Amino acid sequence: MQTNRTVKLTVIKGLMILNALIGFSAYASAQDIAEGKIQYQSSCAACHGMEAKGDGPVAKELKTRPADLTVLAKNNNGTFPYDMVYQVIDGRNSTIASHGTREMPIWGYRFGPPQAFRFKHHILAVIDYLKTIQQK
Ligand code: HEC
Repeated sequence: MQTNRTVKLTVIKGLMILNALIGFSAYASAQDIAEGKIQYQSSCAACHGMEAKGDGPVAKELKTRPADLTVLAKNNNGTFPYDMVYQVIDGRNSTIASHGTREMPIWGYRFGPPQAFRFKHHILAVIDYLKTIQQK
């Protein structure tokens, strides 16, 4: 009786964990994209635009027009240039004058080492979001 109950509980626990894992992975990516969109809107949209076409409200004040971020894949033979975008966001690629410098990125330290415990997650979320808005 007691063992039977233990077995039953173990099976139920196992199913719950499995369910949580399956549920979580599907949920996490939708959530990441939603979070990436929020990050994008607060850190990038002023220049790159709400639709990421390079036409944000600050764009006309800049010497160089912000890039259209919906054609990143198109301009790279159909493959999303993951490494380039990652490095642009984390500051390793600091050749874009309007992005500020590695020490003083235009979006502050949201994606940099002072927030090390979560910056990678935020960068990946922005990238996940950008991937969903690529033109074919
Ligand atoms: C202050 C304005 C500004 C902000 C804020 C900004 N950008 Fe940019 N970004 C630019 C400009 C201007 C360029 C084009 C520079 C050039 O062509 O030399 C650019 C270029 C880029 C490029 C290179 C595109 C290519 O095809 O080479 C990427 C990727 C990019 N930005 C992503 C982002 C992301 C992601 C964010 C938010 C985390 C962001 N930018 C925030 C102004 C900005």
